[in-house]
Amino acid sequence: MVQKTKNMFPLQRNRRLRVNESIRSLVRETTLSPSDFMFPMFIAEGENIKVEIPSMPGIFRRSIDLTVEEVKELFDLGIRAVNIYVKVDESLKDNTGKEAWNPNGLMQRAIKAIKSACPEMIVMPDVALDPYSIYGHDGIIENGDIANDATNEALVKMAVSHAQAGADFVAPSDMMDGRVLRLRQGLDAAGFPNVGIMSYSAKYASAFYGPFRDALDSAPREADVVVPKDKKTYQMDYANRIEAIKEALSDVEEGADMVMVKPGIAYLDIVREVKNAVNVPVTVFHVSGEYAMIKAASERGWLDHDKIMMEQLMCIKRAGASLISTYFAKEAAILLNQK
Ligand code: PBG
Repeated sequence: MVQKTKNMFPLQRNRRLRVNESIRSLVRETTLSPSDFMFPMFIAEGENIKVEIPSMPGIFRRSIDLTVEEVKELFDLGIRAVNIYVKVDESLKDNTGKEAWNPNGLMQRAIKAIKSACPEMIVMPDVALDPYSIYGHDGIIENGDIANDATNEALVKMAVSHAQAGADFVAPSDMMDGRVLRLRQGLDAAGFPNVGIMSYSAKYASAFYGPFRDALDSAPREADVVVPKDKKTYQMDYANRIEAIKEALSDVEEGADMVMVKPGIAYLDIVREVKNAVNVPVTVFHVSGEYAMIKAASERGWLDHDKIMMEQLMCIKRAGASLISTYFAKEAAILLNQK
């Protein structure tokens, strides 16, 4: 015990380390840089297409040509990874999701185009059937529910087709059991031992995904057969914590190179626990609804956009994220580069 002298109280003046920005910068525990971010991109069919998502101001669905231009800009800003999602024409949707592994599908063409224009950009296509599903579900519907194992086999074909197109990583976001193991086996068997897996391990059934489903028109919908009305039989219950650790550990055991927690801000307790439990990088998806909330409040002048954006990103990193998938990637990188 340090003895307190009467006239010196308090001995610990914590404010000494906060006196000015220079000293604060010396003792700052967490930093952000553009290479911490992955940028989620929505891809549309056509040419010279750039359509803003109404619930996500500043975020666009772009055709492949304009996507490639944007990717080059992102790379110049220091961003090193993109997550890509496609908007699939209604006529190509069915219950098998077979368009998902069409070698000339929109996703496969997008991967090729990005990798040939910007080979050093890490491309991580989403692996899940929802954009291809006539029912808006992440897997194949059988007897009123998602058929886990049949879906896994579809996902393997999808992931292999992404690898063939040049993807660096595949990012399964479907939450089927055992899919990481099947993807690892499938990629290895197809001759892609170096294509990595970033698994959406602790993905919660969240209302924060609303704007994303608007962007891709991929929400679960009414159907001619019985289908679950939401994704709660595969995405996690947000009341649960232990399950997140279990999901992350089993994905690592099955061969995941990175695991993800999703959404971000409301789930930072989970991020920290997963971080402490696994020996692979933890990524966090700062999702569409989180983006929309900040945009909406700052449009009204209720929040300071840039400050809130940076605070949220920093707090996600502090909680344990090695990488953050965020729609703010470009804006935040621009701001960081100005410093
Ligand atoms: C699809 C998928 C979703 C997101 C990423 N991949 C939506 C969902 O599961 O319904 C959400 C991302 C976001 O909201 O930004 N499997």
